[in-house]
Amino acid sequence: MNERSQWGTRLGFLLAAIGSAVGLGNIWRFPATAYENGGGAFFIPYLFALLTAGIPILIMEFTIGNKYRSSAPRSFSKISKGMEWIGWWQVLISFVISTYYPIIIAWSLMFAYYSFGTKWGADTSSFFFNDFLSMTDPGSFGSIVPNVLIPLLIVWTIVFFIMGKGVKKGIEIANRIFIPTLMIIFLIIVICAVTLPGALEGLNAFFEPNWESIMDGSVWVAAYGQIFFSLSIAFAIMITYSSYLPKKSDITNNAFITGFANSSFELLAGIGVFAILGFMALQSGSSIDEVVTSGVGLAFVVFPEIISQMPASSLFGILFFVSLFLAGISSMISITETYIAGVQEKFSLSRGKAILFGAGLSFIISLFYATQGGLVLLDTVDYFINNYGVALAGLFEVVAIAWFARILKDLQNHADGQSAIKLGWWWRLSIGVITPVVLGYMMLQNLRNDLE
Ligand code: PHE
Ligand code: NA
Repeated sequence: MNERSQWGTRLGFLLAAIGSAVGLGNIWRFPATAYENGGGAFFIPYLFALLTAGIPILIMEFTIGNKYRSSAPRSFSKISKGMEWIGWWQVLISFVISTYYPIIIAWSLMFAYYSFGTKWGADTSSFFFNDFLSMTDPGSFGSIVPNVLIPLLIVWTIVFFIMGKGVKKGIEIANRIFIPTLMIIFLIIVICAVTLPGALEGLNAFFEPNWESIMDGSVWVAAYGQIFFSLSIAFAIMITYSSYLPKKSDITNNAFITGFANSSFELLAGIGVFAILGFMALQSGSSIDEVVTSGVGLAFVVFPEIISQMPASSLFGILFFVSLFLAGISSMISITETYIAGVQEKFSLSRGKAILFGAGLSFIISLFYATQGGLVLLDTVDYFINNYGVALAGLFEVVAIAWFARILKDLQNHADGQSAIKLGWWWRLSIGVITPVVLGYMMLQNLRNDLE
């Protein structure tokens, strides 16, 4: 067999890890989550979650990848034969996400194109839900071929191309281009946003602390949930990416950089989004409360509406949707690499074959989301993945490592041997106790809410 692929530079690895972490979750999930869970006060549970779960688990996953130098399933099986399924569970989650993520990326491309002359018109909600999703908007090819098909094919072509080039020449170079570009574009957006009339009111609403919320268990669950999703942990991604690190790498430091970079981007996105929502509230004479949304509705309904009212609207629209595209595609590459590496190792396939079968299957499934019922399907799958899939994967992972395999001390020694930052008892406590308790509580809460 060939030598294991390896990142060309440390910066390349960091940009790839940050590229996976920084995604749609930062832009359209974090701002509303923070606002609805205490505003300025949310930063306390959020920082707590970052330091007791996010970064500790990132350190653990980077260490596992670097120590065992294998895909997630094989890494877990090297820890203990009976644990291979945990890796496959995580790989499966990544695979499922890889079937609907490209649709959202394709929508972003399409809306970047619609930005020329703000083609979504005055009623953006009706445009997105009726015209766009039911394929009767301008630029559609009739009602049989969904208009998202061409951007979807473009997205998949880019993904196949980057994957085909491999870790160093494909993933690393792509992220070296995408991530700095994304940062620059996003900074421009935020700078424009905060100078808009009404921006200050939006920011006030965002940062205004509701201190009582700190006593609310569901706020803590929201904070940990955001951190898990946002850092791409328990998706097998970070294990896979770190398995391509050189033997001696400063893992602990890399984890801190990745964690803080992602959170900084999240904060930046919160500022940008709320400045813009403040502008919208002022224009429409409504309160901030009335205009706050997240997810697909924020990106493809509320933002187009605001963009139309902005000075230089076409340009602004393009910048916004291109940044969604860049954030999305770099995350998409990371999930794709995760299952490709797993399948390739398990069945001793060539990389090419693994890409063909793995990503080929994901591509075919993704076509179902391009149909009229796509959004409903997407919402349902996304809901179960986020509320049960990931929380369970994380729970299995930390309990298996800390309580069954009992290798926390080994992993700690491995990381400490290569870093000036030494892990102490807080790290073992975070992984062994705090995270399992929080994840268990999170699962129960979600179950209770759903059964109600
Ligand atoms: N971390 C990404 C975000 O914040 C979400 C993601 C998770 C993407 C897992 C791919 C896989 O948007
Ligand atoms: Na993120």
